[in-house]
Amino acid sequence: MADRPAPCYTAPVAAPVRRRRACRPVRGRLLAVKGTAMARRRQLYEGKAKILFEGPEPGTLVQYFKDDATAFNAQKKGVITGKGVLNNRISEYLMMRLAEIGIPTHFVRRLNMREQLIREVEIIPLEVVVRNIAAGSLSSRLGIPEGTRLPRSIIEYCYKNDALGDPLVSEEHVTCFGWANTQDLDDIVALTLRINDFLTGLFLGVGITLVDFKLEFGRLWENDEMRIVLADEISPDNCRLWDSKTNEKMDKDRFRRDLGKVEEAYQEVAKRLGILPEAGTRDMKGPETMQ
Ligand code: TMP
Ligand code: ASP
Repeated sequence: MADRPAPCYTAPVAAPVRRRRACRPVRGRLLAVKGTAMARRRQLYEGKAKILFEGPEPGTLVQYFKDDATAFNAQKKGVITGKGVLNNRISEYLMMRLAEIGIPTHFVRRLNMREQLIREVEIIPLEVVVRNIAAGSLSSRLGIPEGTRLPRSIIEYCYKNDALGDPLVSEEHVTCFGWANTQDLDDIVALTLRINDFLTGLFLGVGITLVDFKLEFGRLWENDEMRIVLADEISPDNCRLWDSKTNEKMDKDRFRRDLGKVEEAYQEVAKRLGILPEAGTRDMKGPETMQ
């Protein structure tokens, strides 16, 4: 991987071994998606906001974006109409822009309004949270007022485990329990900091402050080679995005905190990025720079 930082140790790494997949295949399903033919495909996994289907070729998956929204470990449930369409498009756009600066991602191409083709990766069971400004659980945990700019960006890890409520963990936990090794973490940190720098600038250019966000990474195996790639999605579901002039929230906190105008906020993010399809999916302008 060209942009991988030099490893901080030289011990030989054991040849990567394919591990058994974490998700259990379930029965095939007939799925009707507006604008596409009915197709029988095997559903591999259903999460809170997305469904994964077997892809057309080995090593690929289809990622379907739902309108379902959950918060507080699924204790709060709802639907944000049109969210799946917008998140599919926003995540595609951001992953493509990141790929342009050399960030490897799982994204291959968008298939339709709600689906994208992705590479099948072995998900590392960590939620990697980057924070630029205090908000959410950092503010409640440490008593730092929401909106306080942090002296430097910080990275936190949560163990992806719904039954445990995705607990905050340290690097020591991550390596001790084998969720990732130190070289994986070196790669994850280097990628995460570059992603944060790039996205902070990209959002600022369209009048949005990137307060914090959550990333997921996966291992992509190519023959005997493994590399860490960005996976999952980047969207207002897993970012805190504030209007840079008014600090108005333009993300899932509007749903979490019952602030109203949830759909409008997601649409506004897509609009500012210049990717809100106004007359069908072919109408995609570039970003609009805000003064
Ligand atoms: P937090 O302040 O609630 O810990 O959230 C930090 C960031 O992570 C915020 O941008 C929202 C995102 N996030 C997710 O994507 N999924 C989650 O389950 C949680 C709790 C947060
Ligand atoms: N992942 C959270 C849930 O489990 C949602 C969130 O707060 O973003 O419901």
